[in-house]
Amino acid sequence: MKSPILDYLNELLDTCAPDASAKNADYIPELARVSPDIFAIAFATIDGKIYAAGDDRFEFTIQSISKPFIYAMAIEQRGLDEVMERIGVEPSGEAFNELSLEAGSKRPLNPMINAGAITAHSLIGEPDDSKETRVARVLKGLSAFAGHDLRIDTEVAESEWSAAHRNMAIGHMLRSYDILPEDPDVIVRGYVEQCAVVVTTRDLAIMATTLAGGGLHPVTGEQVVSQRTARHVMSVMLSCGMYDAAGDWLTAVGIPAKSGVGGGILGALPGQVGLATFSPPLDPHGTSARGVDVFERLSEDMDMHLM
Ligand code: DON
Repeated sequence: MKSPILDYLNELLDTCAPDASAKNADYIPELARVSPDIFAIAFATIDGKIYAAGDDRFEFTIQSISKPFIYAMAIEQRGLDEVMERIGVEPSGEAFNELSLEAGSKRPLNPMINAGAITAHSLIGEPDDSKETRVARVLKGLSAFAGHDLRIDTEVAESEWSAAHRNMAIGHMLRSYDILPEDPDVIVRGYVEQCAVVVTTRDLAIMATTLAGGGLHPVTGEQVVSQRTARHVMSVMLSCGMYDAAGDWLTAVGIPAKSGVGGGILGALPGQVGLATFSPPLDPHGTSARGVDVFERLSEDMDMHLM
């Protein structure tokens, strides 16, 4: 299929050069094995048209890009007030794997950092639920956003679990403050499996479009979450989705977004489009370096900045 949009996406793939200082994540050993040259862009409109270029069907793990979706599910299940008792909505200004708890309440500052996401994972179940119950909900929820059944890459999950000391430490701190009522091993293990859900760049664009369209899936027609929840989640993505680079992102790109250490970036422009890129080498914030480049170009060329 030939179209000016596809020509433009292919031109972006050709002109956004690799950054020699960027490297694949290696604290999850399996992620270091993914080819750094894989590169894809996808773009989906809220009326269900999808444009994609490059390795757009290559499968990779969602990692932190799962966080806004699981947070949305927690809000739908528990209500916003109950979720807000456990997780704040303030930018942390710190790396994704810092503890970043609010003074006093000890709530994680926001749901996009690991501490907040581990807490959101806890909130999609009841305290007595098994790891399997929560992970089944994760798969069901993420699949509804994608519009087809997703699966877990068990090798990536095992690989992360074998070195999950930092997330375990965060889980135990949260348990000690009663932010997590459950066994932190069960919650962190489930969170690690959540991060190992397999997606393509096309899937991410469609998932983003579901948020951008107020929770309505552009292809299946399912109202996956309420419009209010989608608006709340995109607001938190805008202020916190890029961790300690949130201000740079907001000024340069101006699109609610979330990155993952697998190399994906997802952006949701409310009422308009969902966007996604994939390129594994990361910048110092744990975000795909080439992906940032593409989003800056897209925002500028297509006038997508919210301001
Ligand atoms: O918890 C972790 O460290 C990973 N499973 C996910 C971190 C992540 O993707 C951070 N984002 N850029």
